[in-house]
Amino acid sequence: MSRANDATIRPFLKWAGGKYRIIERIRELLPEGERLVEPFVGSGAVFLNTHYPTYLLADSNPDLINLYRTLRTEGAAFIAYCKRNFTARNNSAESYYRLREVFNTTRDVRRKSALFVYLNRHGYNGLCRYNARGRFNVPFGRYKRPYFPEREMWLFHEKAASARFVLGDFTTVLGDTHAGDVVYADPPYLPLSRTANFTSYSAGVFTLEDQLRLVQLAEQAAQRGVPVLVSNHDTEFVKRDYRNAHITRFPVQRFISRDGANRRPAREVLALFA
Ligand SMILES: C[S@@+](CC[C@H](N)C(=O)[O-])C[C@H]1O[C@@H](n2cnc3c(N)ncnc32)[C@H](O)[C@@H]1O
Repeated sequence: MSRANDATIRPFLKWAGGKYRIIERIRELLPEGERLVEPFVGSGAVFLNTHYPTYLLADSNPDLINLYRTLRTEGAAFIAYCKRNFTARNNSAESYYRLREVFNTTRDVRRKSALFVYLNRHGYNGLCRYNARGRFNVPFGRYKRPYFPEREMWLFHEKAASARFVLGDFTTVLGDTHAGDVVYADPPYLPLSRTANFTSYSAGVFTLEDQLRLVQLAEQAAQRGVPVLVSNHDTEFVKRDYRNAHITRFPVQRFISRDGANRRPAREVLALFA
């Protein structure tokens, strides 16, 4: 089922809904173009494994975009700075909650960005979740020896020279596309059940209205000559609201889930509006 191969570059962040495992499917369907636009970049699996001349990579999570900008500008110095947090001493509940508190209170963007990498590898299941006040609240993950993704950060830094990182809502980013652009849109999915809800990447929630707005913007972009490839689960919503798209369906195994019972194969959809 996994279609990633040895040549596939792994993102340096663990990310719910990361597309690393289905990268070949996505690559097969993405049209050529001058610039790839990703309004929901997440861990950047598609960015890392495609070869467009330039990229516009956006997300509504400010911690994620700040981290990418810092890594893009600083490279090796920032990677070394991040590595300093990955000590045996810091792999304890006590250190984790102390550093999580620093993350939630510091105004130092560089420090916060480095701690985002630490939290991603030491927190429970690599989740990224915030409470209503915007505070990161994922519990300690109890990993034996968290991996520091040095090589992966370096590869991201190198490729980031061709990318611009934008903090913002998908509506603005999609509205700004023009001929020559290709869009890959991977929004938070509609929940398959109430317990399998992964809309908490940042303080906001991705609603059904947002899903409909995405379809509308994808159709408008296609009319301007900008193809838009959208990922989602295969649900009734897809059948009804993606009717103007060319649909490809395939099975996937879900790996990040709140309870083990939900780790069952589900059908995934790639819808091309063109
Ligand atoms: C399914 S993940 C993308 C995963 C990505 N394709 C990857 O391979 O890692 C969805 C992303 O959308 C972002 N997001 C949620 N609501 C958004 C919004 N309204 N506008 C832009 N990005 C949003 C989240 O922060 C999250 O990173």
